[in-house]
Amino acid sequence: MRLTHRSPPSSTFWKPPCSLASPTACVSSASPPPPTPCESRAAVLGIHELLVPALDRFVHARCLTFFLLRRTCAETRCRGGMAASPDQVQLFGLLLEMLGARKAIEVGVFTGYSLLATALALPDDGKIVAIDVTREFYDSVGSPVIEKSGVARKIDFRVGLALPVLDQMVAEERNKGAFDFAFVDADKESLLSYHERLLQLVRVGGLIAYDNTLLRGHVAAAPDAPISDRHRAFAAAIREFSAAVAVDRRVHICQLAIADGLTLCRRVA
Ligand SMILES: C[S@@+](CC[C@H](N)C(=O)[O-])C[C@H]1O[C@@H](n2cnc3c(N)ncnc32)[C@H](O)[C@@H]1O
Repeated sequence: MRLTHRSPPSSTFWKPPCSLASPTACVSSASPPPPTPCESRAAVLGIHELLVPALDRFVHARCLTFFLLRRTCAETRCRGGMAASPDQVQLFGLLLEMLGARKAIEVGVFTGYSLLATALALPDDGKIVAIDVTREFYDSVGSPVIEKSGVARKIDFRVGLALPVLDQMVAEERNKGAFDFAFVDADKESLLSYHERLLQLVRVGGLIAYDNTLLRGHVAAAPDAPISDRHRAFAAAIREFSAAVAVDRRVHICQLAIADGLTLCRRVA
């Protein structure tokens, strides 16, 4: 069955106030916007029947901010589907709550979809260092939503290549072990370099999440599989990263087949 359109969430799912956002970001009665053509084409794990309920009912159904976030997601998917998936950022929200996280790092912002979700999950005095080589998509798509949601003050956006920015952070003693959570969703060739820096910045007991670690299954592609050179290079870098963290005694890992593959590393030493 392929779903192309569905009715708005019923009031059973529409129960403000939302604990994930400031009360002003929540509404008591409103109908969600109808899915955009782009959204109805998008897919969670390629399964349309899962996407729409996941977006409307289980992820974005609690407050206005998540509607806005959903719109951001739709726009993002129109621009190449680079954003994290709704169920993935919902998982982050839960993990951040369970960690009692106050400080986070995001490597790879794009429009700011996952950044907004993290900002919503952090407490009022929470802070996120967000790193990207460009602010272009953040300024045009995500920033207005984030401003409206009331969490912009939590975000410290740093424009630049992530490695030098992280090196700069590591060089400041006060940053060592000061962060509770990091999400890495940028270039794949640098995963191991990011890992080394983030292990210095994230506290013992904190969590580092790496996106795209299954890369549409390309990580398991045969040497002669018909995939692009670019994807072949990414897949090789991800395989190297995954093999290294699997035996890294400083972390406990969990490989999830959610979205495009997500590797969670909990720092234990
Ligand atoms: C997949 S998108 C991030 C999506 C975002 N996390 C989300 O879920 O909404 C990847 C982003 O990483 C950025 N990026 C790629 N290589 C980078 C690097 N070496 N340093 C900093 N940012 C980089 C790109 O500019 C792009 O915006």
